[in-house]
Amino acid sequence: MQDAAPVLEARHIRRHFGAVVALADASLNLYPREVVGLVGDNGAGKSTLLKILSGIVAPSGGDIVIDSKTVLLRRAQDAMDAGIETVYQDLALVDTMSAYQNVYLGREELSPNPVARFFNLVDDKKMRARAREVLDALQVKVPSINVAVKGMSGGQRQCLAIARALLWGRRIVILDEPTAALGVRETGQVLEVIRDLRKHDVSVIIVSHNMQQLMSVADRITVMRLGRSIATRTVKDTEVNEIVGLITGAIPGDSPEALAQSAAQSAA
Ligand SMILES: Nc1ncnc2c1ncn2[C@@H]1O[C@H](COP(=O)(O)OP(=O)(O)OP(=O)(O)O)[C@@H](O)[C@H]1O
Ligand SMILES: [Mg+2]
Repeated sequence: MQDAAPVLEARHIRRHFGAVVALADASLNLYPREVVGLVGDNGAGKSTLLKILSGIVAPSGGDIVIDSKTVLLRRAQDAMDAGIETVYQDLALVDTMSAYQNVYLGREELSPNPVARFFNLVDDKKMRARAREVLDALQVKVPSINVAVKGMSGGQRQCLAIARALLWGRRIVILDEPTAALGVRETGQVLEVIRDLRKHDVSVIIVSHNMQQLMSVADRITVMRLGRSIATRTVKDTEVNEIVGLITGAIPGDSPEALAQSAAQSAA
């Protein structure tokens, strides 16, 4: 997985809000078909980093590199054009619209992408067929794509939102606590869809406070503390206790030298 170049690199990202330093020095690499978990205590800067990668918040410093090219993400649309889809916690689904309408939601005016424009012109029938295809590919089970999403479970809605990324050909999906509001069964359903994204050449960054869950879905975990990325571990070479120790500070973070080295190694 890590033979290839990263699809996305966040390098030494900084962001302050007035006197508050939300991010002091945060770096993160994401490789093709990889799921990276981002963890840290409340206020560690996870959401701020995700918002910067989504073009919602501007960084005060640092670089974002996609496919080895530095990019400026000034607006959400810039991030989407760069292949990044963010699934927000409130999801922005429209209750009274059907599953397939929601999969297409809002793209009409959003995307200058010719493929998206093409889909805007096609009739309902084609739209439905394509929505069905995407939902099937991810094995998202919704009662019917024609029924309003109002009656759907939180899990189904979350899966629907993730499926949009596939429809629009995004290569990176960003999820901030996607299962926080879900029950056990629904959580399982969403995790399954996240795992499946790999098969479609999509890489994922996911924030979660649930370590067991994260270890079951992520390949690597990057730990943040007080606005800094302090360590990255491969899931199969670590355990929950180590990650929790790194989060709380009971286990010290890696030295700057080790951080630089692990970045170089994972890129090797
Ligand atoms: N718009 C803002 N204005 C002022 N301060 C902010 C703003 N956004 C974030 N912060 C501050 O930046 C710090 C990092 O916040 P952030 O939301 O990124 O943390 P987090 O790791 O996502 O925490 P949580 O686990 O609670 O979601 C916090 O101290 C927060 O109060
Ligand atoms: Mg947060």
